[in-house]
Amino acid sequence: MQVQEKQKTTLQIRKISPHIGCEVTGVDLRQSVDAETKAQLNKAVLDNVCMVIRDQHLTPEEFARVAELFGEVQDQDHPKYSFPGLPTIKRHSNYNVDPNGNRIKEGLHWHTDGAFRDQPPKFTLLYAVELPDAGGNTNVVNMRAAYRSLPEDLRRRLDAMKTNNVRMGSKARFRVNTNNVAIMAQGGQVPNQHPLVRSIDGTGEKGLWFNPNTVENIVGMDPEESQNFLYDLMDKVIRPEFTYSHQWRLGDIFMWDNRSSMHKVNFDYDWNQHRLHYHATTRGERPN
Ligand SMILES: [Fe+2]
Repeated sequence: MQVQEKQKTTLQIRKISPHIGCEVTGVDLRQSVDAETKAQLNKAVLDNVCMVIRDQHLTPEEFARVAELFGEVQDQDHPKYSFPGLPTIKRHSNYNVDPNGNRIKEGLHWHTDGAFRDQPPKFTLLYAVELPDAGGNTNVVNMRAAYRSLPEDLRRRLDAMKTNNVRMGSKARFRVNTNNVAIMAQGGQVPNQHPLVRSIDGTGEKGLWFNPNTVENIVGMDPEESQNFLYDLMDKVIRPEFTYSHQWRLGDIFMWDNRSSMHKVNFDYDWNQHRLHYHATTRGERPN
């Protein structure tokens, strides 16, 4: 039997800013990596909340194997966008259409992925395959740093709060994801109750954690009051120093700790140009 030699890497990890982001170079993830490299990559994304791995050349199948370095890869929320035979990998394209044949500005507003699930994603990974000439950055904000920045009395109050989460809240301010609107119209789902402040396994830290689009309500508040409360909170904590705006290059894998952050995409690019990523998530613990 032929044994594939583990690659000898010249892996380099560079911190991008004090509060968020790191850049990885010198690794080709088409080849298998040793346990130490795998551990270094996992530690880097946990420590820095988001991470870009430059200069990759991956098929969808290879991208799925890369995602497995970071945990158990989950099936997609909307299977119609997955590659045939690869239910875990989405073709994340601005040409994708909803059930009415309309294109969606997916990720236009701040959110965290899969908050309506029992075990929302630990990591989200994107791999750039086609990009517009300019614009289309993906922005990530560190919600652990956001939580730490709040006064003690407000933190204690937030610690006690719980959110009820569905595919799309009835009073969500931005009902952009019409796939989720359609699912709610067909009967929705039993809400998943999650804490507004969660601990993040592997870090010993806590962070603010919610997706305003999927919150039906905060326990003890009505849906509208809940939306106002969450957007006021976001105004307080989404600060430039906690945020990294990723300007894409072809071949980038950009990933984030979805339990410790919110993200959104800039729709400032020419929407006639194709923007295509492969997309995967890994399973997280049940929030507590
Ligand atoms: Fe997202």
